[in-house]
Amino acid sequence: MSGSRLAYLQAMDIVVWRARPMSALQTPVVIPEQDAPAPVIKPSDDAWHALQSRVRECRACRLHEGRTQTVFGVGDPQAQWMVIGEGPGADEDQQGEPFVGKAGQLLNAMLAAIGLARSAVYIANIVKCRPPNNREPAADEVAACIGYLRAQINLIRPRLILCVGKVAANNLLGNDEAIGRMRGTVHRYQNIPTIVTYHPAYLLRSPLEKRKAWDDLKMARRVAQQGL
Ligand code: URA
Repeated sequence: MSGSRLAYLQAMDIVVWRARPMSALQTPVVIPEQDAPAPVIKPSDDAWHALQSRVRECRACRLHEGRTQTVFGVGDPQAQWMVIGEGPGADEDQQGEPFVGKAGQLLNAMLAAIGLARSAVYIANIVKCRPPNNREPAADEVAACIGYLRAQINLIRPRLILCVGKVAANNLLGNDEAIGRMRGTVHRYQNIPTIVTYHPAYLLRSPLEKRKAWDDLKMARRVAQQGL
């Protein structure tokens, strides 16, 4: 195992057991590394660029008043995985990119722990502008914004969606379930398998839950590889 992979697993609080020498009957478990090529945006993809412009110009709800800039999303628009969070925080509002603060560093570690580079997935949020004081987006703000996310998903058509946190999952899946009830089940959004796990900001406050998030990630990897 590479040193960086080990570091990522340690960030997830995953205890790594060292393998003993293999007997002839044991087969190695190979965890595929999926280090991805740099993100490719197809310049011909007019719909994608039109969507980006619409988001940049959007004033459909009050959140536009306090934003530094919109946060459209980041990563490979042809990705097999989409990660969906709640909405930009202060760092994201400043940098124009989702999950760049402390929670973002943990998200990167979570993805790396299952062999996925940040650049190999597409990361977006339910709302594209920062809610003030990091409050949850209000229902009317979500209603004004979620069409952009739905359009992103339709253009990307990922093999798997990973919702991080209750707000992302409730709004995408249209339910009001607690996170504990949504975990461990393969949901469907537009027939795309959708897995729900804890928000990395919550995991930073409750590190003992990282073990469960690790189980969710392994399930997501299995579903993405095998389909369901
Ligand atoms: N939390 C989120 O849900 N999204 C971000 O982009 C950053 C923090």
